[in-house]
Amino acid sequence: TSQIASARAHTNIALIKYWGKKDQQLMLPMNGSLSLTLDHFYTDTTVEFNSIYTEDTFYLDQKKIETTKITPFLDLVRQMNPQAGFARIYSSNHVPNAAGLASSASAFAALALAASTAAGLNLTRRELSRLARRGSGSATRSIYGGFVEWQPGTSDLDSYAIPIDEKVDWDIEMLAVIIDRQQKKISSRTGMQRVVTTSPYYPAWITSTNQDLSAAIQAVKEHNLQLLGQLAESNALRMHALNLSARPPFSYFEPASLVAMEIIEKLRSEGICCYYTLDAGPNVKVICSKAESPQIIRALSTAFTPEQIVEAFPGPGVKLIEC
Ligand code: DP6
Repeated sequence: TSQIASARAHTNIALIKYWGKKDQQLMLPMNGSLSLTLDHFYTDTTVEFNSIYTEDTFYLDQKKIETTKITPFLDLVRQMNPQAGFARIYSSNHVPNAAGLASSASAFAALALAASTAAGLNLTRRELSRLARRGSGSATRSIYGGFVEWQPGTSDLDSYAIPIDEKVDWDIEMLAVIIDRQQKKISSRTGMQRVVTTSPYYPAWITSTNQDLSAAIQAVKEHNLQLLGQLAESNALRMHALNLSARPPFSYFEPASLVAMEIIEKLRSEGICCYYTLDAGPNVKVICSKAESPQIIRALSTAFTPEQIVEAFPGPGVKLIEC
């Protein structure tokens, strides 16, 4: 017998970053984080459990991919329903211009809902968030739309995301400046672990990020774009400073990242409310208002092509779709 389900999950960009685990097996983070789920970038995944299959197979954008990360994740679902056998998984990433923004966040959030539904489980969003976490930390947050907090917790049971502002009925958008569509130089998993074990600044990161997080949640509740942007930019720069302080050191910045960052800083000195953040790659994401984004796009266009500048708005949480 066969059971099938499809789900769509959107990616999220962290404003206050997760950068380090206290438990690598259970994927428990060192600190809480805050993100914005985006409308523009998402993953659709179909999972079919079928008793005739003799192994898991995974197709990403029509290409067969090895299942080294997928099978251990599906094993968690099979633990919840031992009746579920092997699976076929079909995933497609929807990213404008192959922007290099398809993430493990949307991938594992979509897989958590599709696989658990196909296995006949009816998980709550909290359970889905805990399950998605086991695939990739950032996926914990992609279960929900809008602004989302991941509460670090102390065990598998209490490490999950909660929605802070799912509807987002105020003026905020993100501009992604696509500098590189390639694979990361150092995966986030490796990078964050190196920082935890070698950076002398790591304890200060934890203390200051916990402070940034409470302040940023307050800023979201007050719809204070300027304060939220300031906190996000400073938190991102501190994360990247940790990378430079690791042994051996590493950095995700490219020369073009610095060009984009300088354009944003200059606009700010001219009174435009815009801030940037960077993750485990050179792409720069700009936090701004819809009202001011045309001016920001114009300024970025002096150094980047129209294809490199992608506009994104707050997006929804994970949902089931037609197979
Ligand atoms: C910089 O979620 O990709 O984007 O949990 O090891 O899969 P794993 O790492 P991942 O790390 C994301 C790091 C980040 C910050 C963030 O999303 O909070």
